[in-house]
Order: sequence, then C-alpha cells, then structure tokens
Amino acid sequence: MHFQRSLVVGLIVILQISCYELNKKRFPDHFRIGLATSAYQVEGGWNEDGKGENIWDRSVHSIPSPIFNKETGDIACDSYHKYKEDIRLLKNMGVDHYRFSISWSRILPTGYANQINEAGVNYYKNLIKEIRANGLEPLVTIYHWDLPQPLQDLGGWPNEYIVDLFEEYARVAFTLFGDDVKQWITINEPKQVCQEAYGSGIKAPFIKSHGLAEYLCTHNVIKAHAKAWHLYDDEFRNKQKGRVGIVIDTFWMEPASDSEADINAAERQLQFIFGWYANPILRGDYPWQMKKFIGERSAKQGFKTSRLPEFTKQEIDYINGTIDFLGVNYYTTNMVSEKNDTVRNEVSWEADAETIRFVKPEWPFSTTWLRVVPWGIGKVMHWVKKTYGDIPIWITENGMATYGESLEDDNRIEYYQKHLSYVRDALEDGINIIGYTAWSLMDNFEWQVGYDDRFGFYHVDFKSPNRTRTPRKSVGFYRQFATTRCI
Ligand code: NOJ
Repeated sequence: MHFQRSLVVGLIVILQISCYELNKKRFPDHFRIGLATSAYQVEGGWNEDGKGENIWDRSVHSIPSPIFNKETGDIACDSYHKYKEDIRLLKNMGVDHYRFSISWSRILPTGYANQINEAGVNYYKNLIKEIRANGLEPLVTIYHWDLPQPLQDLGGWPNEYIVDLFEEYARVAFTLFGDDVKQWITINEPKQVCQEAYGSGIKAPFIKSHGLAEYLCTHNVIKAHAKAWHLYDDEFRNKQKGRVGIVIDTFWMEPASDSEADINAAERQLQFIFGWYANPILRGDYPWQMKKFIGERSAKQGFKTSRLPEFTKQEIDYINGTIDFLGVNYYTTNMVSEKNDTVRNEVSWEADAETIRFVKPEWPFSTTWLRVVPWGIGKVMHWVKKTYGDIPIWITENGMATYGESLEDDNRIEYYQKHLSYVRDALEDGINIIGYTAWSLMDNFEWQVGYDDRFGFYHVDFKSPNRTRTPRKSVGFYRQFATTRCI
C-alpha cells in the first residue's frame, strides 16, 4: 500500500518535472478532462425498443429532406448497440469524464412522464454503469435538441406548457439516474433550440418565425431550466449531492476597431448571444442592451409592446441564481462592428442586435461557420468572469471539423494544442475553469449537414454496417494530454 502510494506520488512528480522540462503547461489534478457526444447524433436505434419519435426523426424522414444528402440519424454511430465499445475508446484515451445526452423520447416515448419506456431506461442505466465501471464520470445533458414529436405537435418550446413538461422529464431523469450522475446539464446550446429551430428555421422542427416564436422559446427555455434547477435543489440535492448547470454557446466577438461604437457593438453582440440566456440565470433579467434595442425596433416596426417578453418580479426572483456551474461551448470568433444601416426593417434577433459580423480571411477555415481562432477561447473566459463573477465554468465543447476519410488530422492537433494553451493561461489568470470537454469522441450526425462535417477524434465509417471506429492521429495527442495533463 505504502509502496503503491509512493509510486503514484513519484509518477506525478516525474510528470510534473517532464512538463516543466519540456516547457509545457500542466493542468491541475482536479481539472476534469473529457469528451462529448449527444443522443441523436450517435445513438441510432431511432425506433427501437419502444422509443418514441422526436423532432429530428420527423424532420429527417420528411420529403423533401432538409438534410444535406438526405442523411438521417436512424443508425448514426449505432451507439445504441455499440456503447460498450465507445466506453472502451474513452477509457483508452485516459479521460476523466464522458458527456452524453439522454434522448427524451427514448425514456418517455410520448414526451409525458406518465409513460416510461423501461427498455430506454435500461439503456441509460447500462451506459452509466459501464462509464462508472471504467473509472469515468458521466456528465449528462438532459436536453440536446431532440424534443418528442407529440410535444412539438402541441407547439413545442414556444408554448409555455413545455416548462412543466420539462420539469417532469427532469424529475424522471434525476429519480432514475441521479444516484450515479452527479453532474447535470439541463439544456444544451439554447440558442440553437430557439433561434435556429424556431427563428431562422435551420434546425428541427425547421420553423421560420424570425424574431417572434424564438423570443417566446427563449423565455420558456429559461423558465424550464430554472424549474429543473429548483426541483433538484428542493428534492434531490441533499441526497444525491450533485450539481446542475446549463450549457451556453458563444463565438468570441472581437471589436473591429478601437472606436467606442465598435466596442459597444461587440459587447452588445455578446449580450444578444450569451447574455440572452446567462443574464436572466445569473443576474435575473435580460441584458439592458436587448431590452433597449428590441424595444426601440419593435416600436419602429409598429408593435405595441416589445417583442422581447418580460419576466415578472416573481419570475426574476425565481430564475436568478439557478446555476451550480456554467457550461460554455466555444468554437470560433467573429469580428464585430456597428451597423449604420438602421433602415432595414427585418424582424429577427440578428437584425435586432444591429451589428455587422465578419471573419478575417487569414483565419484558417474549418467549416462554413467555423474559422480557427484559438485566442478567442481565452477572451471568452475572461469576459465571462468579468461579466458574471467567479462562477465555476465547465468548457463543455470545443473542437473543429475536417472532411473526408483521412486519419492524418494534424490541423485538429494544432487546434486543440492552441486552444488548450489559452485555457491553461486563463486558469493561471485565476479564472475558475473546472473542466474541459472536447467535441467529439467520434464523427457523428452533424445536424442539417449530415455526416459531412467530421468532428471526431475517431473516424467513423458510415458506409460499413458495423460503423467501424478508427483512431485519427489526434487520438494520440488527446490521450497524452489526458494522461499527463500537459500540453
Ligand atoms: C454544438 C452542439 O452542441 C453539437 O451538437 C454540435 O455537433 C457541435 N456544436 C458542432 O457543431
């Protein structure tokens, strides 16, 4: 026993020295390193063992298909059958945690909590058991974009009834899995849940309402999150001793010049993206920039009241502070300048922000929306701390896409190397970052672009019935990072 302990201490010392000698940066021992996926993107088994239909199932099967190449997540990576292999891969990479999501309609086929699908529950129980048996910790997202279709048929997220239904779903999740899950995320990237699903209409259920349903959706998402957090706090925390956060995504918004107008525009853009969700949860209400700009534009457009809904005083008190940690997804950066064109009368949240966003041509291209700008992650970390104080931050996604079948992904290695270096600097600057989760363990169904954008450390052969996983070169890099904590 004594010998074993000395061996471990010795090993840590050696690792620290080698980090130092190689002039590398070391991450603290308590810092959690992991990998992420989500249910619809990897599971497949779309109608197996009693699973109900969700909005992605419905959309990918509709004609014409809204998905590139008419691809579907019907089989995806087949993780519904291959989860043990996935966990083996994770274990092999030496990571501390696995972030996955629960498919609402797999455990509650109609969306309502009065009908539980035992087979679906068993799938997640087995998955969690496997994760734990391999020494990993689960980080579980309750909602990653796959609303049960029957709930969409009633109006989906823009309809307020969703708040209570989400609470009931969360109750089922906490009750069934909470003894073994200590890290919960209520909702992943709510901006896509609302602005892309009900605003620009590029994600399921592909509804374009520009500026109307999307504001209502956000209002309900925030209330649903707050209800789930209170539920945990009131009824589960004492016994289960876990914590509950939300994941918000943002680009870094860099002012295009030193002018006050551009600096304000960049800040406003951050508030319109991140603050829209974070401010109510951490400060009780929508950012003042949103109230001002949407209010003024609504009036100009002839609306009697602002298109941005208001929280009551009671709601503000209820929502404020409903968070144990803040999940942040960072992928890329935009330059932002003030928009002079106030004539445009378009109704959409993007028009409401009144900014111009662009990228620099020299920033390396990954995919349509993703240029590689590593310093942006450091700036986001500093901005979050400056804006919201010392809240524990969990970087819940970061990554880039490649194309084709190549396993030689030196650009991905460079992406992670550089981003992690800025994360390490942010830690040194005293920012309370508690973990880092790369996206993704393996190539998977990248929503409306199907299987074209490949975000995985593992290549997945979507043509083989077996969905063979093959390590890319970056697997070695990430394994070394996870096991030595050095970059
Ligand atoms: C964010 C989402 O959470 C995830 O589902 C998606 O695949 C990645 N970003 C990459 O676009």
